[in-house]
Amino acid sequence: MVELALPKNSTLTKGKVWDRPQGATNVREFKIYRWSPDDDANPRTDTFYVDVDDCGPMVLDALLWIKNKVDSTLALRRSCREGICGSCAMNIDGANTLACTKGMDEVSGAIAVYPLPHMPVIKDLVPDLTVPYAQLRSIEPWLKTETPEPEREWRQSHGDREKLDGLYECILCFCCQTACPSYWWNGERYLGPAVLLQAYRWLIDSRDEATGERLDDLEDPFKLYRCHTIMNCTQTCPKGLNPAKAIAEIRTMMVERRV
Ligand code: SF4
Ligand code: SF4
Ligand code: FES
Repeated sequence: MVELALPKNSTLTKGKVWDRPQGATNVREFKIYRWSPDDDANPRTDTFYVDVDDCGPMVLDALLWIKNKVDSTLALRRSCREGICGSCAMNIDGANTLACTKGMDEVSGAIAVYPLPHMPVIKDLVPDLTVPYAQLRSIEPWLKTETPEPEREWRQSHGDREKLDGLYECILCFCCQTACPSYWWNGERYLGPAVLLQAYRWLIDSRDEATGERLDDLEDPFKLYRCHTIMNCTQTCPKGLNPAKAIAEIRTMMVERRV
């Protein structure tokens, strides 16, 4: 179920139905969320028809086809178009995912496209990620050491390196963060699954020497303990990662250091 933080005093209204592409024989229908701070109108869902013989197979290909051929004012973020940068995260067919790796053939019927849920919207499909990025900054996601820097490199055993598997692959798309009900309701204080996965990535890094300090910082009724193991985060991660498990591991570290 898509939940949106709509601009104040507004309701989602039926939008414009754009023309079908002339002469096209293979057409997909798209329902796309539209809202602009520049006009004084409520958010709406516009209907577009895409000639899928004239564009690539992914939802992002169709969105760019619309932007290039139908309505250049459609706003969205994208960069790598191969599931690496995380910028094209949005809600497609009711689930948070990456538009560049979501095939149109994975959705039947009209394809609904909305911004990531429960975030303020800057325009159309572009969410305001100021808060999650500030939260990411707060966990200091970099190597912290006290011993003098080695001449060549910080060394790590193969076993210790393997502990980072399933963590370093996170592309910070915030699909999990914005699928988490606890984050929806406590987003200013609960750090959320994406940020906590990053926190664990540094807690478990054998080279890092700030483990105690990092755990102290997370020992807070809201920052960590608002996770209720609902698992939306893990189900929605387009990279197949498991933020809920990372959160559980942090909690285990908290318990272990008390005994
Ligand atoms: S498992 Fe925790 S972090 Fe993941 S969606 Fe549920 S409450 Fe949110
Ligand atoms: S854990 Fe997955 S869904 Fe969450 S930010 Fe990282 S890549 Fe995106
Ligand atoms: S455009 Fe980079 S992840 Fe989709």
